[in-house]
Amino acid sequence: MTDDSQRVVGGILVGTGLWVAIIFVMRNVLKSLLSWHGWMYNRHGHMNIKSSIWMFLVRVFSGRKPMLYSFQSALPRLPVPPVKDTMRQYLESVRPLMEDEQFQRMEGLAKDFEKNLGPRLQWYLKLKSWWASNYVSDWWEEYIYLRGRGPIMVNSNYYAMEFLYYFPTHLQAARAANAIHAIMLYRRKLDRAEIKPIYLLDRRVPLCSAQWERMFNTSRIPGQETDTIQHVAESKHIAVFHRGRFFKVYMFYDGRLLLPREIEQQMERILADKSEPQTGEQALAALTAGDRVPWANARAEHFARGKNKQSLDAIEKAAFFVTLDDTEQRYDTANPVESLDSYAKSLLHGKCYDRWFDKSFNLIVFKNGTMGLNAEHTWADAPIVGHLWEHVLSMDPLKLGYAEDGHCKGSLHPNLPGPQRLQWDISEECQNVINSSLNVAKALADDVDCHIIPFSEFGKGLIKKCRVSPDAFIQIALQLAHFRDKGKFCLTYEASMTRLFREGRTETVRSCTMETCAFARAMIRDDTREERLKLLKDAAEKHQSMYRLAMTGQGIDRHLFCLYLVSKYLGEESPFLKEVLSEPWRLSTSQTPLQQVELFDLKNHPELVSSGGGFGPVADDGYGVSYIIVGEDLINFHISSKKSSPETDSHRFGSNIKQAMLDILNLFQLDKKNVK
Ligand SMILES: *[C@@H]1O[C@H](CO)[C@@H](O)[C@H](O)[C@H]1NC(C)=O
Ligand SMILES: *[C@@H]1O[C@H](CO)[C@@H](O)[C@H](O)[C@H]1NC(C)=O
Ligand SMILES: *[C@@H]1O[C@H](CO)[C@@H](O)[C@H](O)[C@H]1NC(C)=O
Repeated sequence: MTDDSQRVVGGILVGTGLWVAIIFVMRNVLKSLLSWHGWMYNRHGHMNIKSSIWMFLVRVFSGRKPMLYSFQSALPRLPVPPVKDTMRQYLESVRPLMEDEQFQRMEGLAKDFEKNLGPRLQWYLKLKSWWASNYVSDWWEEYIYLRGRGPIMVNSNYYAMEFLYYFPTHLQAARAANAIHAIMLYRRKLDRAEIKPIYLLDRRVPLCSAQWERMFNTSRIPGQETDTIQHVAESKHIAVFHRGRFFKVYMFYDGRLLLPREIEQQMERILADKSEPQTGEQALAALTAGDRVPWANARAEHFARGKNKQSLDAIEKAAFFVTLDDTEQRYDTANPVESLDSYAKSLLHGKCYDRWFDKSFNLIVFKNGTMGLNAEHTWADAPIVGHLWEHVLSMDPLKLGYAEDGHCKGSLHPNLPGPQRLQWDISEECQNVINSSLNVAKALADDVDCHIIPFSEFGKGLIKKCRVSPDAFIQIALQLAHFRDKGKFCLTYEASMTRLFREGRTETVRSCTMETCAFARAMIRDDTREERLKLLKDAAEKHQSMYRLAMTGQGIDRHLFCLYLVSKYLGEESPFLKEVLSEPWRLSTSQTPLQQVELFDLKNHPELVSSGGGFGPVADDGYGVSYIIVGEDLINFHISSKKSSPETDSHRFGSNIKQAMLDILNLFQLDKKNVK
């Protein structure tokens, strides 16, 4: 080597080293900045000096045009809160739900735990938090989702609905085609990491993107003790179910993605195919709807070789799963209650054998062109699926659109090979397993009582005029509704997220508090309006403060859950943790956020947005409630419970929710017409 070239190489090395060092420093500065959450305590829309300087610095260190995963290494780690804080908050949360005597007993157990076993468990947990990227998430995924041995249908999977008031086409194949094409475009953006990271606070504070990694090419695989998630790097097809038959449909031809009209062509071929299901094929997917162990056994025994393995592979390794459903569903304003309840139930469980519940998600398209999603819960939480769904709903009628006659735009392909019918050889023994899984699933599905309410009396717009956070307002209304519904209060779960931290998922806000109970009681006594308003403000403030704690890693439920697991690993019995972890959540709630508001024109096309989604009841005698705040004037509630419980009735609870919302609004004596 000449001197010159040595100098050049040296220069490049030093330059590269410097560059790496700068990036490293930038990352770590950004990480320290993002560990500060003081901005959350500003009043909405008001920034103090400290927050403003902080925000400026975050912007400087964030770089320009970040991609989906750009911030991952700059996200702080989820901290382990002190045992003392968790105990205090825990006792506070159960105080309104326990008689004095019971509470004193619990207090004793908690004190004992805090002094004796707690510190030891905490030490191990701290240790874990130093080497793991998140001290909760791997355990959460394994113990909450994958180790569950009961059916995932209804119990774990959840659904998303589409527009309620707008039907772009009545052609099933065309609707499916636009949606599939939009989903494939989303996957391409994801593969290139071109999806913009999600932010809080006016696009400043980035959230973790890890949950996007297993959206496609993914299936849950049943096992004996635990299931696993299988994700493949290559997947050029989708799997389609129609009237008891399975098809494999390639999404590429001549090295390019199929266009909407071409996908429609493939869907039309499937719809026109008159062949009968093969023996045992029709209800095959019921295996994914029943208990996990029989499915694991059947899979090992009957699907490990030959054409059964090949066909199963085609489903499990598909990009995602599509059902061309042979029922019609649609919100019918002449029959609002039954039509929506039936639509929800169909998305949640269908006929128990017409969705592949193990796939990361199923796109379900009904015979008259309505559609929806059913998603498996292990790989991600609802906002991630919601993000994809918002993309699809914004593409479908506006950007992709339909021709006059309801077909997709574009033209047919002259020589596209047709879909491939999957081949099965299903023995009688296997058919018996399918039959018994179907029976288990049917019993579960038939028991679900769904009720959907598009609540249009008022929405976020008026709630903000009351100077109450919309989420707190709704949560307090749910507490009041529940108190009227059952005459008592119960442990309440509200999902919040911890994606401000690396690989964060959710935290629980225990939204039944001393304050909400005091308010609900005041509403059924004859307290004055002023007294009630004061209690309402207190309850809302308490709620917001808990929500902040949960989002900043100071919640209590994930901490308690992990302490419990450590105690299990160490073989230590903790009567305190055992009791805490076995308390049922009789009211389980979740807000579906609308994340890409810019995709929708809420002013001119308020009908062109998702109407949210829902999930099954969590406790046998409890309620599940999911809600989405759409624009300024609409809130959709999705309520579920079990018909077999004499204590619950989704429709009764629904009217209690409506009444509670109206009663709380009335306290403010806003004259609706004047304000609008
Ligand atoms: C899924 O498969 C496609 C096609 O083979 C591939 O391009 C893509 O990277 C895979 N996606 C993920 C998230 O692994
Ligand atoms: C399906 O859509 C058609 C219009 O395309 C409508 O007439 C029919 O009532 C819908 N079916 C149901 C069950 O809502
Ligand atoms: C499974 O159930 C169906 C209907 O309930 C019945 O027709 C079929 O014979 C059953 N198959 C087996 C193998 O038991």
